[in-house]
This record gives sequence, structure tokens and C-alpha cells, in this order.
Amino acid sequence: MLLAPSLLAADFLHLQKACDLLNNSAADWFHLDVMDGRFVPNISYGLPVISQLRKASQKIFDVHLMIEEPEKFASAFRDAGANNLTVHLEACRHLHRNVQQIRDLGMTAGVAINPHTPVELLYDILPDLHLVLIMSVNPGFGGQQFIPHTYEKIRVLKQRINKKGLNTLIEVDGGVDLDNARQLLDAGADVLVAGTSVFRAKDPAAAIAAFKQTGQK
Ligand code: DX5
Ligand code: ZN
Repeated sequence: MLLAPSLLAADFLHLQKACDLLNNSAADWFHLDVMDGRFVPNISYGLPVISQLRKASQKIFDVHLMIEEPEKFASAFRDAGANNLTVHLEACRHLHRNVQQIRDLGMTAGVAINPHTPVELLYDILPDLHLVLIMSVNPGFGGQQFIPHTYEKIRVLKQRINKKGLNTLIEVDGGVDLDNARQLLDAGADVLVAGTSVFRAKDPAAAIAAFKQTGQK
């Protein structure tokens, strides 16, 4: 199980502290949420923040673009330090082209789907993807309630990935906590994104350790 704490729930006045926390933990990836106020009804942070974080973080940067026309910015996010770049199916008219662009730039590619989008829409492109990000809340905000239908989506997608002998990872994002982590892994999730449940925990380092322990059970 891979754990990807999401910066969105961290204290933005102390980004170095967030990097230190992750560097000194068993967290696997750093999940970075970019929002444009168009694809989602919120604006988060962007390129200059990510390139500064890059200097302070040793973790893999898992950048989740919640933006329209992501193809315009793919190379800029690569230059800022993204290792994996995830775009939304719903924001891409030419998804195959966008995914190839990301891979040609030397990053791994992910595609995210909103809660209303069926996993079947990704079947033709699965072999090109490092990961599928299944949104378990409507994108745009941290701290929302987990949508239970996600389990079924994970199960169906996992079956397809196994049947085709692929190694595409399934990442789940939104409302993930220590109470649903085990069930998500049992359904077939490989990567758990956790914002509130890590950065707003009383003891974030302990929360990361507890997630990783859940992954070992
Ligand atoms: C929401 C973002 C998430 C967010 C998750 O649009 O994609 O990554 O940070 O936050 P929590 O874990 O608090 O639901
Ligand atoms: Zn995210």
C-alpha cells in the first residue's frame, strides 16, 4: 500500500514543516492538488509553490491537476518537479493525446475520474496509465465525506486490471481515513490519498504510521 498525504490540508504558513513531516515518515508520495477555479469551484496553489516544495521534499510528487486544458501546463509542471501528473478525464477532449504528452515529457501519467464517471470509460487507455485516480468526493475541497459507491468502482476496475494482466495502480482520493482504509485496500486500492486525516490529525506523524500499519495487515 502506498500512502500519499495531500498538502491541501496542511498549514500553508509552514510548508517546510509539511515537507519535513513527510521526509521523516514512511509516506510514499506527496499528493499536490492544483485547482483553477474553472474545472472545480476552488483555487488552491500552483507552479511557484510546487517548485519551492521540490527543494525541500524528497518524496515522489504526485500532482493532481483539477484544471481545464491541462495540456497547456504539462511541461511546466514537469519543470516544477512533478513525477506523476494526473489529469481529469472530464477535462480532456483528447485524453489519449494528453496522456502521451505527459509520458513523452518523462513523467508517469494518471487519469482521475469524478464520482459520476464510470470506470469503464478508461478501459481503452489503461495500458498507458501508471494510475487511475478514483475520486471518492467531488473534487475541489478537502474534508468532505467519503462516497461509499467508490468501493464498487474500485472492485470493478481492479478486476479489469487483473484480467488484462496490467500493473496500473488504483488511487483513491477524498474522505480517506483510518476507518475506511482497510476496506479500500481490500476492494483493490493501491494508493491512498489522505489530506485531513493526516495533516489535521492531532499527531500527523502517528497518523502516517497508523496508515502504513493498516496497509501491512
Ligand atoms: C480534493 C482533493 C483531495 C483532497 C483530499 O479535491 O483532490 O486530494 O486534498 O482531502 P481529504 O483527504 O481531506 O478528503
Ligand atoms: Zn487530490
